[in-house]
Amino acid sequence: MAAQPQESAGAARAGESLLKVEDVQLSFGGVHALRNVSFEIRRRQIFSIIGPNGAGKSSMLNCINGFYQPSAGTITYKGEPRKQMRPYQAASQGIARTFQNIALFTGMSTLDNIMTGRHLKAQSTLVENALWIGRARREEMAHRHFCEEIIDFLEIQQHRKTPVGTLPYGLQKRVELGRALAAEPELLLLDEPMAGMNLEEKQDMARFILDVNDQYGMTIALIEHDMAVVMDLSDRIVVLDHGEKIGEGTPDEVSSDPRVIEAYLGTQQEEEA
Ligand SMILES: Nc1ncnc2c1ncn2[C@@H]1O[C@H](COP(=O)(O)OP(=O)(O)OP(=O)(O)O)[C@@H](O)[C@H]1O
Ligand SMILES: [Mg+2]
Repeated sequence: MAAQPQESAGAARAGESLLKVEDVQLSFGGVHALRNVSFEIRRRQIFSIIGPNGAGKSSMLNCINGFYQPSAGTITYKGEPRKQMRPYQAASQGIARTFQNIALFTGMSTLDNIMTGRHLKAQSTLVENALWIGRARREEMAHRHFCEEIIDFLEIQQHRKTPVGTLPYGLQKRVELGRALAAEPELLLLDEPMAGMNLEEKQDMARFILDVNDQYGMTIALIEHDMAVVMDLSDRIVVLDHGEKIGEGTPDEVSSDPRVIEAYLGTQQEEEA
């Protein structure tokens, strides 16, 4: 990617606050998807949100990027507190995401799908675009070049012209990551990026997530059910259950927290046995 690699994360892990969620509540009819949830994500962290099915994890990401409007609470992003955030505001201020269910244009190529992630960067006017002159042409070429670099980074060069609907599932997830990266986000939200993948695909995806964080200093909020992956990648973890926060801390702290083990990790370990 064109962005300059920044100094390696490591020491810089605990950067300044990027996102602060305070007492966020969200209801659907009688269902309390989120109840007074609070946590803080610092710059350059890989911050994971875990919990059983229906715990409210995706709902939390949807509040952060403005798809859902919390009924109470505050979300402070880059120092600016808000009761609500609109999706276009989130996107234009550097929040990008991937979805639990892949949301790509299946008939379009890998390159064209990734290009859709750059539309917010476009500066040229409608007329310039229609006439394909001057700035529009230069801009299109620069965007294309940027997206080709993402394709190289994600090692999907041989699929750049392939319609994504024909790609194996694991590669589609990678294209979706590419589209999110094309927006050059400051905060990248990943909703189960490894769901349905085999071991090798998971290892590849884990490596890309680490590289994105390490080389480009991108802050990542990750939802993932595979505990081995979560414990390996995360700097910090928050645990939700029935819309409530039941634990938070480092991977070591969370994996030895009796409440978390009882509500979530216990059942996970039984499933895996
Ligand atoms: N758009 C919606 N309309 C109605 N109910 C919803 C909606 N979105 C989420 N919910 C409900 O909110 C609760 C939390 O759902 P959410 O999808 O956030 O859970 P999750 O932790 O992401 O679960 P999973 O691990 O299965 O993806 C669930 O009871 C769900 O049915
Ligand atoms: Mg979910």
